[in-house]
Amino acid sequence: WGTRELCEAIAKRCKDFNGIEVDPEKEVVVTCGSTEAMMSSILAVVDKDDEVIIFEPFYENYWPDTVIAGGKPVFIELKQPTFKVDEEELKRVFSRKVKAVIINNPNNPSGKVFSQQDLKLIRDLCLDYDALVISDEVYDNLIYDGAKHVSIASLPGMYERSLTINSISKTYNATGWRVGWVVGCSELIDAVKKVHDFLTVGAAHPLQKAAEKALSLPRSYYNWLVSEYSRRRDIMLKILDEAGFRYYKPDAAYYVLADITGYGFDDDFKFSEYLVREVGVAVVPGSSFYYGGKGSNLVRFQFARHVDTLLEAGRRLTKLRKLRQP
Ligand SMILES: Cc1ncc(COP(=O)(O)O)c(C=O)c1O
Repeated sequence: WGTRELCEAIAKRCKDFNGIEVDPEKEVVVTCGSTEAMMSSILAVVDKDDEVIIFEPFYENYWPDTVIAGGKPVFIELKQPTFKVDEEELKRVFSRKVKAVIINNPNNPSGKVFSQQDLKLIRDLCLDYDALVISDEVYDNLIYDGAKHVSIASLPGMYERSLTINSISKTYNATGWRVGWVVGCSELIDAVKKVHDFLTVGAAHPLQKAAEKALSLPRSYYNWLVSEYSRRRDIMLKILDEAGFRYYKPDAAYYVLADITGYGFDDDFKFSEYLVREVGVAVVPGSSFYYGGKGSNLVRFQFARHVDTLLEAGRRLTKLRKLRQP
């Protein structure tokens, strides 16, 4: 289920950064990235026709993962501009049919960090309706301006009903190395282990050794990381200001959702294609993070790039200013 040393390092990380006490022997599964962690977790706990609540905008995998497991996705929109959880709407969709709620905290693509209020609301409903939470926290260390990330599993009553997912991809810049993990109470983790064993057997041993090394980095590494990404975020926001975009300032992660209204395009795909072909900048169309065509007024920029690359993108994007209607 992972090398002993890596499981111990993960348990320490959970304690230091997520406020959760994890038994490294019984409550950790090392996976091939958080992608496998999410798939294994959903397959482990979701049965045919179980409902799974997914907040929009969502990281693309959650919807197909749920469908592959035979579950029924139930989408709830985090409304722009605050991306706050809508209490009434969440209460309206909750029922005994809900097996799990997927949260992505901090969120890709919005950069939202779930507030204590959001988390408590989700916790109370999960307790009332006996539902689980699968929490994808791959951006837990990329937080700006003093925003605070709280793992839902650290809230009273939630450890027993949460699977918390993370990986080395984002915090340690090793997306291609495919090492991630799931932690949770032993009953849930036993179920995840059964799926994981048949899906991938295990993450490559040499890369688990590398992950051990990554997790032993000192605090100064994390401080450096946040200051570097804050710098890139500020450069990105300035570029978007200069190109005339309205956008949602991210509190975390390395994406910015920008509004394309006013540039004269019918939808986000046409706008994105124009950007690639005529401007030389790639973005992701906003509707790919929503169900049923919502989000077509948005595109997602990504700023995990060298500063020179961002500045060059900025120069190219000035072309857009002439398209912008007031
Ligand atoms: C929210 C979120 N979860 C999971 C992943 C996948 O990460 P991994 O490389 O750990 O599989 C990504 C990658 O973009 C992501 O943004």
